[in-house]
Amino acid sequence: MTLTIGVLGLGSVFSGPYASLITKLEQEGRVRLTAGYDPDPAKRSTAAERFGINTSYGAPEELLAVDDLDIVLVLTSMNQHGSLARAALEAGKHVLVEKPMSTSLEEARALLDAAAEAPGLLVCAPHIVLSPTYQEMHRRVRAGEIGDLHLARARYGWSGPWWGRWFYESGGGALFDLGVYNLTSLCGFFGPVRRVTAMVGTAVPKREVNGELVPARADDNAHIVLDFGQARFASIATGFTMQQYRSPAIELYGATGVLQLLGDDWAPNGFEQWSNPRGSWELIPERAPHWPWTDGLRHLVDSIDSGTPTITRPEHAYHALEVMLAAKQSSTEGRVVDITSPFPDLEYNPAATDDGRPTHDPRSS
Ligand SMILES: NC(=O)c1ccc[n+]([C@@H]2O[C@H](COP(=O)([O-])OP(=O)(O)OC[C@H]3O[C@@H](n4cnc5c(N)ncnc54)[C@H](O)[C@@H]3O)[C@@H](O)[C@H]2O)c1
Repeated sequence: MTLTIGVLGLGSVFSGPYASLITKLEQEGRVRLTAGYDPDPAKRSTAAERFGINTSYGAPEELLAVDDLDIVLVLTSMNQHGSLARAALEAGKHVLVEKPMSTSLEEARALLDAAAEAPGLLVCAPHIVLSPTYQEMHRRVRAGEIGDLHLARARYGWSGPWWGRWFYESGGGALFDLGVYNLTSLCGFFGPVRRVTAMVGTAVPKREVNGELVPARADDNAHIVLDFGQARFASIATGFTMQQYRSPAIELYGATGVLQLLGDDWAPNGFEQWSNPRGSWELIPERAPHWPWTDGLRHLVDSIDSGTPTITRPEHAYHALEVMLAAKQSSTEGRVVDITSPFPDLEYNPAATDDGRPTHDPRSS
């Protein structure tokens, strides 16, 4: 079955990473990109010219009203995610929404409710728990290879976007844009956060966006401490304030060993494992160096085709949003904030985990 795709938001992530995966899936005969909408007329005409798609809609609702549309990708600025994803589900579509799923908890709750009622599937970015490297680390943690998890440290950042003013306005910011990756990873390993305390602020008051100096009204710098219960803690350092680093993305400290994800959660570069019984480090090289962080789209297409539930759960994304909003609240009010939302443990298809055989050509996988 060839599934038809419509895109809301024809900006940077559409024209690069998602377009490249869509082209691959089109070549495999699995999808057809047919429609797109962006309020920016220049982006509409560029997309129409480049992909031969219909971009003549006057509003997102007009695209959502198209009958012959199976999947809608919500790739807009963050404040638009929740309402557009919900409208797309209510229009009967399968939906992929970029992170965060919403910028408000109320809207995210309404989106979860809509997903529970609607016939379509909802996949929320980031899709990092789908990477083969994350899956293999998760398998090792659950198999008890490093013993009970006690402590973790995570980091992700860069110097910050130079396009899209909205990144530095209310509803934007580094926590929603970057911190969400580490948070999603850590929750996948530990389970739900119980309490959070944080410092979240704006370290650089003005930013250059498309050659213009603009005031920064959103956070660009954060340190977050997570309490997973039973004295299990983790910290996250994130911001548009990191020029470079050479540290692991995620460090997991267990009772008998250590796992360290190298690279970034969204671009893993293998991992390292310390084992007390062995008394040495083992480097496990990256097995899927071309794994695309847009993989949630392929997963959505696979899930629709096979009629199976998605591995990534919207409740996980909701939980991450609750923690991020609580981190901001903690910083403003100077107190620890309780977290209440549950989410199910990751359940992978056993066939998708590492079978121990070497990969000769990762590009063809
Ligand atoms: N750029 C990255 O590296 C990156 C990576 C991963 C995820 N993301 C996420 O992807 C999303 C888009 O990021 P981007 O870098 O492409 O931003 P961008 O500013 O380049 O593109 C966003 C587009 O959304 C459009 N838009 C705004 N409101 C809309 C609406 N109501 N309907 C349709 N389109 C609308 C804007 O006009 C703009 O063209 C963000 O949520 C971001 O966090 C970005």
